[in-house]
Amino acid sequence: MPEYQQTYRVLRRQGDDVRALAAYRQAGGYAALEKAIRQQTPEQVVQQVTDAKLRGLGGAGRLTGEKWRAVRRTEDSQKYVICNAYDADSRSYAARSLLERNPHQVIEGIILAAYAVGASEAYLFARSSFRAGIDAVQEALREALDAHLVGRDILGTDFSCTINVLGVDIGFMGGEETVQMALIKGRRGMPEQRPPYPAQDGLWGKPTAINNVETLANVPVIIRDGVVAFTKVGTANTPGTKIVTVYDVVSDSQPVVVEIPFGTPLRTILALAGIKRADGDLRAVVVGGAEGGALPPSSLDTPFDFDPIEEAGAIIGSSIIELLPVPTCMVAWAMERSRYLSNESCGKCVPCRLGVKRITGILEGIVSDLGIKGDLAVLDEFAGYIPNGSLCGFGVQAPNPLKTAKRYWPDHFTMHIEELQCPTGTCVPVRAHRFVTKHVLP
Ligand SMILES: Cc1cc2nc3c(=O)[nH]c(=O)nc-3n(C[C@H](O)[C@H](O)[C@H](O)COP(=O)(O)O)c2cc1C
Repeated sequence: MPEYQQTYRVLRRQGDDVRALAAYRQAGGYAALEKAIRQQTPEQVVQQVTDAKLRGLGGAGRLTGEKWRAVRRTEDSQKYVICNAYDADSRSYAARSLLERNPHQVIEGIILAAYAVGASEAYLFARSSFRAGIDAVQEALREALDAHLVGRDILGTDFSCTINVLGVDIGFMGGEETVQMALIKGRRGMPEQRPPYPAQDGLWGKPTAINNVETLANVPVIIRDGVVAFTKVGTANTPGTKIVTVYDVVSDSQPVVVEIPFGTPLRTILALAGIKRADGDLRAVVVGGAEGGALPPSSLDTPFDFDPIEEAGAIIGSSIIELLPVPTCMVAWAMERSRYLSNESCGKCVPCRLGVKRITGILEGIVSDLGIKGDLAVLDEFAGYIPNGSLCGFGVQAPNPLKTAKRYWPDHFTMHIEELQCPTGTCVPVRAHRFVTKHVLP
């Protein structure tokens, strides 16, 4: 059994301040850029990222090397790199922590990506509310420009690349790649049909490598330390680390941000975040953020990796892990999540726009003890057809809270429907609402 501990590859230890260029260089920063630009071809950089099996850390886990190869091979003189530092789920601290604590590593990753795919212009797309992170990146960019690490003729070579920083906030959908490209062009942020993928037909119709900020911050580690060192941490399918935001909802605590090797069991992640709770103290552990799934405490030994987490019904998604206390009615939890997602749906696809709203409505009925047996089959039908009829990943994942609540806590649904009882006594039926309302009215 490997020993799992916090592993700082992209985040830095508290007190290990590398925000200034001199400090970042002192810690080995920009050595990867020097090495790549002076000694390696762009193809070699792509090959190392491929060999390292670096997966997209924005949630879906696509292989970064394959994406870069597709952009590199497209014959076009103009190509783009987009660094997705948005964090659709605003409760995630991954992107903002990276921007604030390690802005130069983000810049180095972007420039390496641009060199690898052949781009001369890059965009860093952050949430406008990440003020401290955006300020840190802009300050780092000023230093990097002065040191010829970004901009024209980088490190005295004929390779040039500029980085534009954008701060935008349009809610959850602002994290989706085709939405970001529309917003960069000044258009309304709505997802687009794929294929064609951004690698072929991206920003202004040009080949575009769009990657999550954490994915890009890992590239300097691969180039500087080599593929063998990089793949020593993590699992065979998913080498490397992941920034995880942990919420101990039970005690309503502040979130804790950790960087852990892929494959670390959920239980160990909680311990590393300083949370110690008996399984009997928990109703569920929710993995993946707003679109994530709720798993029972018996799943706490599941390794944090794409396949096992998806098999259990959750997603890596925004890498948020949160705990639900025992008095949580899982029908009410699924209803609240669905309501939030219904509000965040951009509305372009009818199944997502109306389907998630209908799920919310049916769950509202069930928690109010107005549900009927047939509701369960209708919910299953919606959970099946919304993912199939949606253009982007939002609709694909939106039924996850409902699906996992039904899978692991079917008794919560039947108690509400058949016995008109909330399993935890926390849902207030509509009838009771009316009763209370009557009493407080003058
Ligand atoms: C609704 C929605 C929200 C998303 N939010 C983010 C996000 O906040 N950050 C991110 O990197 N990717 C997000 N993605 C995934 C991006 O569309 C894209 O796949 C990703 O940035 C690619 O980078 P990666 O391969 O390095 O993960 C989101 C996707 C969807 C459908």
